[in-house]
Amino acid sequence: MKWLWVVAFVAPACTVPYNSTAGSAGDGDNGDRGRCALQHGTLGTEVLLQCPGAAGGSAEWRRGGTLLGMYPAPGLALPNASLAHEGHYSCHHPATGDTLATVCLRLGYPPTLPALECWAISYPQAVNCSWVLAPEPLLDTDFVATYRHGMWGAAETGECVRTGPRSCSFGDLQMFSLTPYVVNLTAVNPLGAASRLLPFLLENIIKPDPPENLRVSPIPGETKKLLLEWSPPGSWPFPEYFPLKYRIRYTQEEGSVTKTVGPYEQTSYTLTGVQPGTLHRIQVAAKDLTDSGEFSAWSLPASGTPWTEP
Ligand SMILES: *[C@@H]1O[C@H](CO)[C@@H](O)[C@H](O)[C@H]1NC(C)=O
Ligand SMILES: *[C@@H]1O[C@H](CO)[C@@H](O)[C@H](O)[C@H]1NC(C)=O
Ligand SMILES: *[C@@H]1O[C@H](CO)[C@@H](O)[C@H](O)[C@H]1NC(C)=O
Repeated sequence: MKWLWVVAFVAPACTVPYNSTAGSAGDGDNGDRGRCALQHGTLGTEVLLQCPGAAGGSAEWRRGGTLLGMYPAPGLALPNASLAHEGHYSCHHPATGDTLATVCLRLGYPPTLPALECWAISYPQAVNCSWVLAPEPLLDTDFVATYRHGMWGAAETGECVRTGPRSCSFGDLQMFSLTPYVVNLTAVNPLGAASRLLPFLLENIIKPDPPENLRVSPIPGETKKLLLEWSPPGSWPFPEYFPLKYRIRYTQEEGSVTKTVGPYEQTSYTLTGVQPGTLHRIQVAAKDLTDSGEFSAWSLPASGTPWTEP
């Protein structure tokens, strides 16, 4: 009998550390659920902590070991909740001090509409999508990402499979389709949900990764030329069947003028008419040869100086 009573008394205790901080919000939620009523609130709003056992009457509230005071129904209101309010609260019978309920308060924001981008960096194998949420919701937020291709009964649907915490990809693509793909990304947390729909035609979102392995070499005997060589991006699966064209930009190390040439359908190029004896900084970008989609970002820069008389 005595043993049962002890268990009943201890069970409501909440194990969240009193000053658990925003950075760890979400940690241990699973473990806490059985011991205290987990409550989520929105930062900067009025958050109301209710005491179920008070049956409409007043209750005494404590936070950790500290007495907060006596609050009538509906409960303890925090007018402008901030991260400092997160933690473990309890309400007690006004006369006996018996614990009526314990509440673990977590604060954050409902998810906003995610900013979603999708690109075919490995055309025509896959579409890669990534997203950001601003502001960060701070609470554990789940994402459901799906895609649809086609209308109504004829639609093909599937999961956009997660490739990272905030990225996903899907394959099995239909090239040159005049029907848009639509990606549906839904962010869900205890305070709400938000869905972003992104429609696109596959060929319009082709965007290779930047070219790789750019090398700049002098050409013996040539004081005004530089030889440039590079490789297609490693993520572009079939450069033989879906060739790329390349744009080159270069600048003198000390100079302010940047010149751009191209595009050219080749992975090497001889820059002519460059300033003799001067260091030049070069970058290359790639685009699908048929001009679909967008240019890649610029590659990592490489530098070189034309040949000089020994
Ligand atoms: C709410 O609190 C934040 C900081 O915690 C403060 O910047 C803001 O002015 C407060 N708003 C009101 C209405 O008191
Ligand atoms: C793009 O998707 C492919 C195929 O699923 C995956 O292997 C790759 O890691 C993804 N790339 C990025 C940058 O997420
Ligand atoms: C997007 O996905 C969410 C979650 O799966 C779903 O509830 C919603 O209805 C979808 N929206 C559309 C327009 O398909």
